[in-house]
Amino acid sequence: MNITELIKYRKSVRSWADKPVEIDTVEKIIDAARFAPSAKNLQDWRVIAITEPELRVKMVKVARGQEFVGEAPVIMAICGDSSTGDMSCDMPRSVVDATILIDHITLVAAGEGLGTCWIGSFDQKACRELLQVPLGWEVVELLPLGYPANPSPVNKPRKKVSEVLNWNLWDGSL
Ligand SMILES: Cc1cc2nc3c(=O)[nH]c(=O)nc-3n(C[C@H](O)[C@H](O)[C@H](O)COP(=O)(O)O)c2cc1C
Repeated sequence: MNITELIKYRKSVRSWADKPVEIDTVEKIIDAARFAPSAKNLQDWRVIAITEPELRVKMVKVARGQEFVGEAPVIMAICGDSSTGDMSCDMPRSVVDATILIDHITLVAAGEGLGTCWIGSFDQKACRELLQVPLGWEVVELLPLGYPANPSPVNKPRKKVSEVLNWNLWDGSL
């Protein structure tokens, strides 16, 4: 699959095959994803790969009861170093950087036959406490990772290009 095909193929996965994800596979995914760009090349991110069953059960509560998160063989918590502050455009550097990293992870994982699902619905404070994330770092997203239970056809309803793309100036008619 080329990158355009991969982007169209990736989808959120919320049910998992009974198949473990090898440590080598996780490391291979992170090895590729770490080539993501970051502001000033700070690479102000950290990935916690959660595999211990007891911790994964506790992560369900952190993820506001989303059971499928704990059912995944691996849950990644992608953290950003908030001490790197804002860029001159007023956007938070570490959140933008971590978000790019996460997108790279999801695409590389899809290329390896693995499923992921972005999780933004979680309790930040509880997550930081449980995973012992130090002050100055934030958990930007959670990302369960596993082999999909049903590699179903991709159905991705999306806006049309004409609804998204403006030329030259903001088009208020869209
Ligand atoms: C920032 C972000 C947060 C999300 N949070 C959740 C979540 O907490 N739970 C969930 O089931 N899906 C979550 N999603 C997945 C979206 O629902 C999904 O990406 C969207 O419906 C498009 O479907 P697709 O990923 O299959 O293309 C999140 C996605 C993003 C990008």
